[in-house]
Amino acid sequence: MESTEQQAARNDQPEARQPVSLDFLGELRRTHMCGQLRASDAGKRVILMGWVHRRRDLGAVIFIHLRDREGVTQVVFHENIDPAVHQKAETIRPEYVIAVEGLVEKRTPETVNPNIATGEIEVVAEKLWILNESRTPPFPMDEFAEIAEDARLKYRYLDLRRPQMQRNIILRSRISFAIREHLYSQGFLEIETPFLTKSTPEGARDFLVPSRLSPGYFYALPQSPQIFKQLLMISGFEKYFQIVRCFRDEDLRADRQYEFTQIDIEMSFPQQETIYEAVEPLVQRICKEAGVEISIPFPRMTYAEAMRSYGIDKPDLRIPPFHCVEDLFEGQGLTQPGLPLVAIHIPNTGAPSRKERDEIKAFGAERGLRVYDDVKRLERDFPGPMAKLRERASAGEEDLLVLAGWPSEKKGHRPEETVLQACGQLRLYCAQKFKDRHKLLDNRVFQWVWVVDFPMFEWDEEEQRWVAAHHPFTSVHDEDLEKLTTDPASCRAKSYDIVVNGIELGSGSIRIHRRDVQAKVFSALGLSDEEARAKFGFLLDALEYGAPPHGGIALGLDRLVMLLAGENSIRDVIPFPKTAKGTDLMSDSPSPVPEKALRELGIALRKK
Ligand code: AMO
Repeated sequence: MESTEQQAARNDQPEARQPVSLDFLGELRRTHMCGQLRASDAGKRVILMGWVHRRRDLGAVIFIHLRDREGVTQVVFHENIDPAVHQKAETIRPEYVIAVEGLVEKRTPETVNPNIATGEIEVVAEKLWILNESRTPPFPMDEFAEIAEDARLKYRYLDLRRPQMQRNIILRSRISFAIREHLYSQGFLEIETPFLTKSTPEGARDFLVPSRLSPGYFYALPQSPQIFKQLLMISGFEKYFQIVRCFRDEDLRADRQYEFTQIDIEMSFPQQETIYEAVEPLVQRICKEAGVEISIPFPRMTYAEAMRSYGIDKPDLRIPPFHCVEDLFEGQGLTQPGLPLVAIHIPNTGAPSRKERDEIKAFGAERGLRVYDDVKRLERDFPGPMAKLRERASAGEEDLLVLAGWPSEKKGHRPEETVLQACGQLRLYCAQKFKDRHKLLDNRVFQWVWVVDFPMFEWDEEEQRWVAAHHPFTSVHDEDLEKLTTDPASCRAKSYDIVVNGIELGSGSIRIHRRDVQAKVFSALGLSDEEARAKFGFLLDALEYGAPPHGGIALGLDRLVMLLAGENSIRDVIPFPKTAKGTDLMSDSPSPVPEKALRELGIALRKK
């Protein structure tokens, strides 16, 4: 099959286009935008400018849909009004840039186009200026055209002309404005922080920038403005925000890019509640901008509850929780003693087929679970416990119900969590599998939740040590302070995530504001004094000069806009994103640099 690009190349042969003489814009000014004119404008003389969206040549009459940012207007060229203008109109093709002057006329009732806002009128052209021509685009600018993503990214400037992308980028811009307006009204100040900086501790790899004046030395692009916003609190700015680009060299996915934008917030003297109270109305305001009404406050759930009910720290509340039922089946050998036995319940699935049951079992087994999928048999073997389970889960006959236990040795530093996480994945797998039947995964429904009180540390298998679950500047719960070195696994952090429909939208914490506590946390993380000084010496120093209690959060702007625009990938709400392989197909980056540039930076490349 001919690809869109081949098709475009064929259509773009010179004989397909007529020679065009281009006009100057001169003193010409547009009087209206293409989405603006209504029946009440009939009789007005107007000048419109824009791109030729569609063209229909009926011989004596040529119709053009003229498009600009605001919409589309039908322009009509009649041979009998001005043959020269009509002849000129014959030469124009899709995506040519033109200006027309003419009279607004009401359309007859049969010709009204209800699909466009200007459908009650048309502009009868009297003058035409062709301001620029266009090669045949590699894909149409239509609303519903299915276009390969590679072609879209290579010709991104054209992809961005498509209505879907125009809508997304305009929504993004409006949301940014709403954020600024709202936060300024709440006394926040927007303050910039540097891009050429030192490594920040968000757990991903840094993008490094070599220094020309200090050969062998590198800046790191910020993974977040974390340390700088803390310093701004120490400097006394009290309420900071920034809509800021962050850079992380991590594997890309539908909701991850190397460079992405955070709504970054920090406050002095807050309680955790103060942060929620600042963020919830902000999110509500942002949603309103996208025409989505949500109610606040959002529910709150501890990390421990999220794990015991959803097996994940970012629960999708559109699907019911699972239930730990080891108490009902004690001593039955369905799971290792001391480990959870989980009942996964998805409503309105109907009876699963043999094949579906086998797939569910296999998915669980790959994650170390033993799945009991034969409900009839379970009900025969354990009638009492199964009746109680059905009651606990409110599970009806038409619902999917499976049990999952852990048959092998305990695993990990928090073995219970290992099992719950595997069950959480199984729950999501089942929910996805039957999504067309239960219809709960509706992306116009937004289920927000704060997940709070995360563990302070996570065990890093690769490095065989505890690492900060959020980042190393996060406060520990006051009552867990003494356990920092003796029992790190049980320490809880003053941290919180804002989650919607199973997506982590934002993350934050109350910070450590005391030098002695920060030193304790570094030591629990296995950072020696020298290492801590080398990495974060400036922050440690700053903490010694009257650092106020402070805390904050960062929300992912790209993810938020993606959700509100109803898209599945943040690439669709970022004007110029990278591919999943981290490349820019349009500008062809990353790319080699001349040897001279490397020499200036004191860099010699090794052979791979
Ligand atoms: P965190 O690392 O959780 O916290 O990031 C906050 C939010 O930023 C978004 N996000 C991303 N979006 C797109 N692509 C990425 N690669 C990417 N990485 C993160 C997510 C995430 O929830 N300094 C702390 C915040 C704080 O403590 O105030 C921080 O950066 O939506």
